[in-house]
Amino acid sequence: MPPKILLTRPWPEGAFEYLKIRYDVTVSDSGVPLTKDQLIAAMSQYDALCPTVTDKLTAEVLGVAGARVKMIANFGAGFEHIDLAAAKAAGIRVTNTPDVLTEATAEIALLLILMTSRRASEAERGLRNGAWAGWKPTQFLGQSLDGKTLGLAGFGRIGQAVARKARAALGMNIAYYSRHRVAPEIEAELGALYVGSLDELAARADVLSLHTPGGPETHHMINAALLKRMKPTAILINTARGSVVNEVELAEALAARTIAAAGLDVYEKEPVVNPALLPLDNAVLLPHLGSATVETRNNMGLRAAYNLDRFFAGEDLLDGIA
Ligand code: 8YV
Repeated sequence: MPPKILLTRPWPEGAFEYLKIRYDVTVSDSGVPLTKDQLIAAMSQYDALCPTVTDKLTAEVLGVAGARVKMIANFGAGFEHIDLAAAKAAGIRVTNTPDVLTEATAEIALLLILMTSRRASEAERGLRNGAWAGWKPTQFLGQSLDGKTLGLAGFGRIGQAVARKARAALGMNIAYYSRHRVAPEIEAELGALYVGSLDELAARADVLSLHTPGGPETHHMINAALLKRMKPTAILINTARGSVVNEVELAEALAARTIAAAGLDVYEKEPVVNPALLPLDNAVLLPHLGSATVETRNNMGLRAAYNLDRFFAGEDLLDGIA
């Protein structure tokens, strides 16, 4: 009998076809996340779960008595929605899908950098609303990026990919702060200047882009005090996790124009976007598009599937995180 697998959301076709011929696959296609009770019930019905960022796999769910699930192959790189300690305690292995979404997510960071610096959403809204009466020397003026400093908070795979693209495509200078300083060869290749603290990076950056994990360690790392350190012309970009930014304090800074703009792809309480952000012309708001390309989402599914294959073959996991 093939192992029983639950996908908490429908997957892209290629990855789904791959799974279907190897496993007994059930797909939740209600269009909404599974409830806590449904997740708890699933724990005793399947051999493996394939959740996404919208499924909260808490200690209560993972620690349920008599569980059959022995493997969780997360569809996504970030895993702060899974209590890894509880998974470990319950003897459940957990994997994620790094690498395959690095370039797509970096592209969205670049998109937000360009959209915010050139006021693209605001200007397009103006055009659609009839506010564009023709070309003027002074309308919708943004900021140039060439020669400006991009400060990266977090310098893992995605942060480095953003550095590479922003340097090559936009002519930006790169500075970064991270818990772990990267190897000198990487700094040299990316022309990246290490700065000793997030405060210093915030003060130096023309664009501050976040690339840390979510979770308690980075919760509200960007708050009123940090925003005050940024230049009044500076732009904040968040493609990491909504929890990293205090949205209320960001909305206040944007409304008071103590920073120039923000480009956000992630939110504290997805899919709810703090209502204070919605009327702000200097906020560009995307609906968590980081990895949303046909190629990338399919590769994420395949990467999760390869981890399942290895688990059920008793082999080393590609991306074991618990
Ligand atoms: C994914 C992401 O689409 O992989 C991540 O960490 O943030 C997204 O791009 C999402 O997490 C799917 O679970």
